Amino acid sequence: MSKLSAQSWSSQTMFILAAIGSAVGLGNIWRFPYIVGENGGGAFVLVYLLCIFFIGLPILWSEIALGRAGKANPVNAMLNLAQEAKASKGWAVIGFSGIIASILILSFYSAIAGLIVAYFVKSLSGDFANLSPSMAEGMFSGLLSDAGSMVFWHSLVIFLTLGIVAGGVKAGLEKAISIMMPGLFVILLVLLVYAASTGYFSASFSYMFYPDFSALSWSGVLIALGQAFFSLSLGLGAMMAYGSYVGRGASLIKSGLWIVGMDTLIAIMAGLVIFSIVFANGMAPNQGVGLLFQTLPVAFAQMPFGEVFASLFFAFVILAALSSTISLLEPGVGWLGQTFGLGRKASVWFLGGIAWILGLGTVLSFNLWAEFKLVGELNFFGFVEFVATNVLLPLGGLLIGIFTAWVLPKAIRERELPVAGWANALFLFTLRFITPFAILWVFIGGL
Ligand code: PHE
Repeated sequence: MSKLSAQSWSSQTMFILAAIGSAVGLGNIWRFPYIVGENGGGAFVLVYLLCIFFIGLPILWSEIALGRAGKANPVNAMLNLAQEAKASKGWAVIGFSGIIASILILSFYSAIAGLIVAYFVKSLSGDFANLSPSMAEGMFSGLLSDAGSMVFWHSLVIFLTLGIVAGGVKAGLEKAISIMMPGLFVILLVLLVYAASTGYFSASFSYMFYPDFSALSWSGVLIALGQAFFSLSLGLGAMMAYGSYVGRGASLIKSGLWIVGMDTLIAIMAGLVIFSIVFANGMAPNQGVGLLFQTLPVAFAQMPFGEVFASLFFAFVILAALSSTISLLEPGVGWLGQTFGLGRKASVWFLGGIAWILGLGTVLSFNLWAEFKLVGELNFFGFVEFVATNVLLPLGGLLIGIFTAWVLPKAIRERELPVAGWANALFLFTLRFITPFAILWVFIGGL
């Protein structure tokens, strides 16, 4: 078996779509609004946007560049590049920590995506009709307390992911993504129009964009940084793996701008919609994990053709989630295949099996294990989420940035990321001096 990636995207557009598919998912629609609410709104959003542009974007460019230049899964890509740069093989740690992070993320991601599937089924059966805010709360807590159903939905999502990655229907999924992206966008626009009709759109807008720094803590800043990585699928090799399938002709700079632009736009739209519903119904913005599940169904119950929009919305979110989960398997599956010659199916089942088992811990964290604290205040879900998102991703990203800025031969860097004149100097300065220190600063402050 060759240690190089054999696949490739059919075009630059296909790469951009798949990478946007990986980036846009529950992170934008479920996670972003609820952590904005938990961390007090505007100031958090501002820090998040700074993290996206000064840390996320340069690291994203670096990560896809390392993938295309290293031409392999994250472990072997780093080994190939370290050899070319005559640097230590130890850089492969980026690949290994990424594989661990990706399995941890897949484990809780699929449990939450399972809830979305459950809500899709509820929307089809008309369960949101005449739903009041308190009924929506009851519906959500009812589902959480039902460990059996949650295990079922979690298993279904893992199973769908494995089926897509193992069964070679990726081409089909790529087609689905190209319909899903515009579809999700249009539904969010419809929801924005609805949000405007509630009369609380401007309250929502100022909640998200008026920065009140007294509401933001250091740990909030770390959460914003972790979210920037999580939302852009950065720091664990997923983008590196996707980058390794990109042809020479594609512009990584342009692709990176598209990915960051769409990812940020969709998160902001989701936030504006959800907070309008929160304020219009006198709900609390800081209700946590349940925010999406307790707000949107109430809105669907009130709007004309609500059932139709609800079903479409949840269907698109399921697709958005699946286009993210499949990218989570990519680093590990590529490594097992290219290093041990393990077949795609076997690798997929092996890694998916681990994620499935770990995911049971997340499922139980919402019911039977809810009171069981693993470390400090964190239960099993909280701990897995914290370690993966706020520790492994920023550290992986830090190493990716340092390698690209300081170790990667200049010729390779400039070939992969050609930017002219002063823009190049600015990019290099940011990547060398701003990005790594910003990550370290936030990281140490937050811990
Ligand atoms: N970016 C995805 C989202 O926001 C989650 C993800 C993280 C996917 C890391 C792949 C890798 O939903």
